[in-house]
Amino acid sequence: MFIKSPLNYTGNKYRILPQITKYFPKHTDVFVDMFCGGATVGFNVNADKVVLIDSNPRVINLLKFLAEKDINVIISKIEKIIEEYDLSYSYKYTYKKYRDEGYVVGNNGLKKYNEKGFYKLREDYNKLKNKNTDKANILLYTLMVYGFNNDIRFNNYGDFNLPVGKTDFNKNNYDKLIAYNERAKVTKYEFVCSDFRSKKVNDIINKATFIYCDPPYLITTAVYNENDGWNCDKEEALLKLLSKVAKKKIPFALSNVLKTKLKSNEQLEKWIQDNNFDVHKINYHYKSSSYNKKNRDREEQEILVTGGESSETGNK
Ligand SMILES: C[S@@+](CC[C@H](N)C(=O)[O-])C[C@H]1O[C@@H](n2cnc3c(N)ncnc32)[C@H](O)[C@@H]1O
Repeated sequence: MFIKSPLNYTGNKYRILPQITKYFPKHTDVFVDMFCGGATVGFNVNADKVVLIDSNPRVINLLKFLAEKDINVIISKIEKIIEEYDLSYSYKYTYKKYRDEGYVVGNNGLKKYNEKGFYKLREDYNKLKNKNTDKANILLYTLMVYGFNNDIRFNNYGDFNLPVGKTDFNKNNYDKLIAYNERAKVTKYEFVCSDFRSKKVNDIINKATFIYCDPPYLITTAVYNENDGWNCDKEEALLKLLSKVAKKKIPFALSNVLKTKLKSNEQLEKWIQDNNFDVHKINYHYKSSSYNKKNRDREEQEILVTGGESSETGNK
């Protein structure tokens, strides 16, 4: 059964997991999820070992923390923060309670109730010198849950900069956290915080038996490629790396977009043709509340490129 990540990651692959995993091996030894984001793909495959790589240290640290720690400890820490910052807790007290008390105005959800506590929490998190402690991780998780769109986003100074959101630690977030923590217990995983061009990643790749890549897409923009953006050079480096992987007969799959209404990725198209890789069309409709009509009109065609040598497919 597929589980959702506890991180509501922009561009996460949950919705299209059935479509992409059918091109993965039924079982593999070492599965590498190279731009793992919220770990949605890596934690939903059948492998002896999964290596999850991402260059964002805050995300990797948080995922590690939520996977490793005892779930009861995590939840009691969240409950302590909820109490300390006077935040709503609809999973425990019901959403109705807050509505009946007049805190839910228009379609602003729990925003009004949480505004004060959220900004104090954000200030306290941003003031922390060391962002890789249990305390920092739990504050970041709580910020995400009470923040805009349940997203994680930092400015150039590394400060969490999203405003307060409409939701809280509700049943949905609670269930995702538990499912993820349970999946971690039955998965042999390793989180690696590194740029995909590092020697460390190169060594990992050489031992991999399947590599999945979900990089930022060159011709679309998302939160994670705003600060130190994805560009043609990085795209080129990734395509080169995957050509090498294919030559070594390591099977891989790459998610991407070839065309939007306004742009096309010719670099990628040429690389696919030159190497004779397979292209599978993926039916993706980003329907999140942040994905408005303007975005839908961009008519993006999501694709999965596969190459290298693959035998059995059909991961369940
Ligand atoms: C499209 S998202 C991945 C989403 C993920 N597959 C999921 O389902 O949640 C792309 C990820 O690439 C990471 N990234 C960007 N540049 C990178 C780099 N140079 N090396 C490694 N990871 C990078 C970003 O931090 C981001 O998490």
